[in-house]
Amino acid sequence: MAKAKIAVIGAGLMGHGIAQVFALAGHDVTITDQHKPALESARQRIATNLRDLGDDERAVERVRTIGDLADCVRDADFVVEAVLEDMPLKQKIFGEIENHVRPDTILASNTSVMPITEIMAGLRERSRALGTHWWNPPFLVPLVEVIGTQWTSPAAIDFTMKLHAAAGKTPAHVKKDVPGFIGNRLQHALWREAISLVERGICDAETVDAVIKAAFGRRLAVLGPLENADLVGTDLTLAIHKTVLPDIDSRPGPSPYLERLVAEGKLGFKSGEGFRKWSAEQQAALRQKVLQHLKKAREEDA
Ligand SMILES: NC(=O)c1ccc[n+]([C@@H]2O[C@H](COP(=O)([O-])OP(=O)(O)OC[C@H]3O[C@@H](n4cnc5c(N)ncnc54)[C@H](O)[C@@H]3O)[C@@H](O)[C@H]2O)c1
Repeated sequence: MAKAKIAVIGAGLMGHGIAQVFALAGHDVTITDQHKPALESARQRIATNLRDLGDDERAVERVRTIGDLADCVRDADFVVEAVLEDMPLKQKIFGEIENHVRPDTILASNTSVMPITEIMAGLRERSRALGTHWWNPPFLVPLVEVIGTQWTSPAAIDFTMKLHAAAGKTPAHVKKDVPGFIGNRLQHALWREAISLVERGICDAETVDAVIKAAFGRRLAVLGPLENADLVGTDLTLAIHKTVLPDIDSRPGPSPYLERLVAEGKLGFKSGEGFRKWSAEQQAALRQKVLQHLKKAREEDA
């Protein structure tokens, strides 16, 4: 992949990490943020991450912070937006970006759940617009979902897939712009049943997590569900589904149990209790455990 000019809009949790990945891959990166402290600290945060991961610290020299949105995107080949999850804000930003880029500059949103179609509907040139859904932290989780809309050109998808693959990511093409794309649909199908098991008194929250971590969670990183279905046989999978699926939670909305937790102010880490109680030490330990696990997985990949 030839060196490209990448512009990142939003220097928060995701934006600075995305900038870091592209800079490390050798691209020239500009980044902007309307919040001055976020913009001013972006290069320092990237430098710290690079040092912490043992990556080439000189990559930060390829990142330029720019206060003005127009100046940030003007020469870009590829623009990725990572501002707050706010539809009118994203629509406004893309409308503005389009006034300052070439007609063939690819425009991507890193929204977690918002329809790319709705974000990009107002653009004059919609064939170059798509979604790139990164996972946190962007420099440790390999997946980037590349979401096309009904308007996105195959050339824009192809360039984006190659750009991310060459930057060491694992791009996955999402051919239809559906809520939750692929990853979050799968993840939340599992969460719905996890909550239901607790709600029905079949086990407590600790047990749900323990069962996953001690059983199929161990295999998931190397054995996807459809590989697994083939491994055991589609006939066995069908037999299991005939027995199990009628009893699995299929309600269309959020669980009343979850709604009750939120109504009671049991918001998880931020209030000290959600499905379980969390002391400050337990929260820090779990965050650290996840980070170490992801770092180890990245080292094993390398
Ligand atoms: N946090 C995650 O785990 C995660 C994962 C995948 C996708 N996302 C998505 O990525 C996007 C960014 O999320 P985040 O977690 O980095 O949020 P964040 O709050 O850490 O960062 C957002 C940044 O956008 C900046 N911003 C707001 N308005 C702006 C404007 N008009 N121009 C320039 N900058 C502006 C803010 O100042 C802030 O620094 C959201 O759409 C989110 O849903 C988040």
